[in-house]
Amino acid sequence: MPMAPSAVVLAGLVIAAAVYCGLDPLGHSPMVKFPGFETYPVELLPWSEFPAVRDPEDRLRGAEVRFLNQVQGPESIAFDPRGRGPYTGVADGRVLFWNGESWVDFAYTSPNRSEICNLNPSLFSYLKNEHICGRPLGLRFDKRTGDLYIADAYFGLLKVGPQGGLAAPLTTGAEGVPFNFTNDLDIDEEGNVYFTDSSTNYQRRNFMQLIFSGEPSGRLLKYNPVTKETIVLHRGLQFPNGVTLSKDGSFLLFCEGSRLRLNRYWLKGEKAGTLDVFAYLPGFPDNVRTNEKGEFWVAIHCRHSTYAHLMADHSKLRKFFLKLPIPVKYHYFMLVGGRLHALIIKYGPNGDLLETLEDKEGKVVKAVSEVEEKDGKLWIGSVLMSFIAVY
Ligand SMILES: *[C@@H]1O[C@H](CO)[C@@H](O)[C@H](O)[C@H]1NC(C)=O
Ligand SMILES: *[C@@H]1O[C@H](CO)[C@@H](O)[C@H](O)[C@H]1NC(C)=O
Repeated sequence: MPMAPSAVVLAGLVIAAAVYCGLDPLGHSPMVKFPGFETYPVELLPWSEFPAVRDPEDRLRGAEVRFLNQVQGPESIAFDPRGRGPYTGVADGRVLFWNGESWVDFAYTSPNRSEICNLNPSLFSYLKNEHICGRPLGLRFDKRTGDLYIADAYFGLLKVGPQGGLAAPLTTGAEGVPFNFTNDLDIDEEGNVYFTDSSTNYQRRNFMQLIFSGEPSGRLLKYNPVTKETIVLHRGLQFPNGVTLSKDGSFLLFCEGSRLRLNRYWLKGEKAGTLDVFAYLPGFPDNVRTNEKGEFWVAIHCRHSTYAHLMADHSKLRKFFLKLPIPVKYHYFMLVGGRLHALIIKYGPNGDLLETLEDKEGKVVKAVSEVEEKDGKLWIGSVLMSFIAVY
């Protein structure tokens, strides 16, 4: 029996759409520039077991917005051993210092800075030249020497003296594999530096590809300042991010972004060298910082969504979706649940959940990359904000 004309048209459209999506002739698929792009399963807790954390009062809305438009994308915040600062790394590759009156240039990580690093119309437009200008992410002062250690997404682990200037690279690779996304660090009492490389295959400017891929090339590393050696403490990680030592130095915590976990890596005692889960997180974590009491502040970049949950489980479906000619920002929008949501959580030294602060609609605090506690105040930075929030 011949098909009705409308059915023929419909069938034709479906086939055309399938061919279009399959071939993506206009190159709209977000993965078109990444020929080797592959997706990996990401193991999460079952949806029903996700930690329920809430701040019914949305207390982060009461945070004070400081330095509006004076700092672009301040990810990490640090104070020097004399308590001065804050210091923060910004989108154009500089580390800035607040001297109490104004922001001044303190340090930079790229030996190659030029005018292309300056003056960009929006926060996102800096991404294009980050690999030339540098992107300082994690910052920590060595309390004994006053040196500032910097994890730069492109230039590895660096150090600069108390006078600032061009930071000197300490290490840019381990086991013959260069870092591609150095992210955060902490320093122990002997000057050993513990740090993360979020990926061997993707750089920060391609963080969306890294998130969608779920690829497990991230590493937890240790740099020894005496031997100048860098060793891999743990490998096979899916977007390792923030790192912090416990107050007594017996373990360190690091966030594993894609798996929504806060992992504990034992440094001392019987369990030294082993890893366990310290806490399951309700969203995608960024940095973690220890306060004076030995508690841990975790910055959650965005909450986990049902869409993200489904995609984590089904890596083939994820790959199929990403091959559709839909710009990457829409995929990302779906992944983060379609809105900004600031969330920070405090855990006790043994992993008990102590406090949750939110701004569920991102009204004041848009997103959080790091929480640094100083004298009872929380200094909140974010790669997505043009200010620092203080609570
Ligand atoms: C510095 O710039 C030059 C010329 O643009 C380039 O060839 C070189 O690779 C750059 N070096 C770094 C470390 O980015
Ligand atoms: C680093 O990442 C970029 C893409 O983000 C990739 O082209 C490059 O090959 C990676 N470097 C290494 C050493 O794998």
